[in-house]
Amino acid sequence: MRHALLFYCRAGFENDCRQEWEARSGQTGGWETAPGFALFKPGKGGEADPNPPAAKELIFARQMLYVLADVQLGDKDRLTPIVDALKAGKTPAFNDVWLEHPDSDEGKPLSGFCRRFGDIARKALQENNLIDESARYRLHLFFPSMNRVLICSVDPNLAASDWPMGIPRVRMPAEAPSRSTLKLAEAFMTLVPDAESLLKPGMTGVDLGAAPGGWTYQLVTRGIKVYAIDNGPMKGDMAIHPNVKHMRTDGFKFRPQNPVDWLVCDMIEQPARVAQLIAQWLAHGQARMAVFNLKLPMKKRWTEVERCFDLIDQILGAADIRYTLTAKHLYHDREEITCFLARQKAGNKRGR
Ligand SMILES: C[S@@+](CC[C@H](N)C(=O)[O-])C[C@H]1O[C@@H](n2cnc3c(N)ncnc32)[C@H](O)[C@@H]1O
Repeated sequence: MRHALLFYCRAGFENDCRQEWEARSGQTGGWETAPGFALFKPGKGGEADPNPPAAKELIFARQMLYVLADVQLGDKDRLTPIVDALKAGKTPAFNDVWLEHPDSDEGKPLSGFCRRFGDIARKALQENNLIDESARYRLHLFFPSMNRVLICSVDPNLAASDWPMGIPRVRMPAEAPSRSTLKLAEAFMTLVPDAESLLKPGMTGVDLGAAPGGWTYQLVTRGIKVYAIDNGPMKGDMAIHPNVKHMRTDGFKFRPQNPVDWLVCDMIEQPARVAQLIAQWLAHGQARMAVFNLKLPMKKRWTEVERCFDLIDQILGAADIRYTLTAKHLYHDREEITCFLARQKAGNKRGR
C-alpha cells in the first residue's frame, strides 16, 4: 500500500504543489488542500513513476512527509489517541518528534498549543518506548486543527527540509540595506549545494537589479567583488564599499569585460526573459554560477516554471553545456521562486 503524502507550502500555493507533484511523479489520486498544506492520497490504479522526484528537489513543497494515520481528536485527551494509533500501527521507535501546524492565518493560533503539547507528547512517547535517538525515522505530528492530527514520518536524510515547518531560520543582518538580503541568504543555505565552498573570497560577481544592495551585501560579506547593476541608488555601506562597483545601466544589456564566478539577479521582469538572460550568460561563459528569481504569474505557475526551464535547457543544450539547475519557493519568496544554475565540468550528465 502506498502512503498518503503530506506537503507543506506557502499558503496559496497548494495547487502549485499539487501540479508539480502530479507532473513530476506521474502519480494520480485524491487531494485535500487547505491554506499551507496539501494532502495527497494515491489512487488505487495506475502505477507511479518508479523514480519520483526526491523531496529535496521539489520546488513548491517546503516539506514532504509520509502519513501513517489521520486521527480525529476530542477536546480533553489528545494524547491517548495518538499513542494508541502508533501502537496499533506497530511503528518502530522514532529518533525525535516535531509538532507542527499549517503556516497560515488559520494555523498560527496553533503554535502555542504545539509548543506546550510537544513536551507532553515527547514524555508519553518516551514512556511507551517510541523515542530512540538511534532510530531512522523522525515523527511529525501535524495539526491542521486542534481536533485532528496527521501522524507522519520521514527519514531526516531524505526530507525536503531540515527545519521545523520547513522554514529555515535566517538572521536579518543589521547592516544589510534591504530585507531582500534574507532571500539570497536562504538560497545559499538551502538551495546551493555546498555553498560555502562555492563562495570564496577573491571571487567576482555581478548583481543585476542590485539596488538598494541586499543581495550585493550577501556577496561582499563573503569577500566577493561585485558589479552592482541598477539605475536606482545603492544604500548604506553598499554605496561606498570598496568591493562594490555600482553601474547605472540596463541589466539586460550589461556584460562584464572578463568572465565572473557569480551572477545574481533580482530584477522584477517577465520570468521567461530572465531565464533566457541567465542561460545566455552561462552559455557564453560570462558566469559560472547564477542565483536568480523568476517572478511567477498568479495562475498556471507550474506551467510557467516548465516553460522557463525548457528555455534554459534549449539555450544551454544548443551550446552543448552541461548544467545543474535547482529551484525552490523559498520561505522569503512571495510570488517568485529562486533558482540556482551552474555550469558543470565536462563529463557530467546534462540536465536538472
Ligand atoms: C526587488 S529590487 C532588488 C532588490 C535587491 N536585490 C536587494 O536585495 O536590495 C529590483 C531592482 O531591479 C531593478 N531593475 C529592474 N529592471 C532593471 C533593469 N532592466 N536593469 C537594471 N535594474 C533593473 C530596479 O531598479 C530595482 O532596484
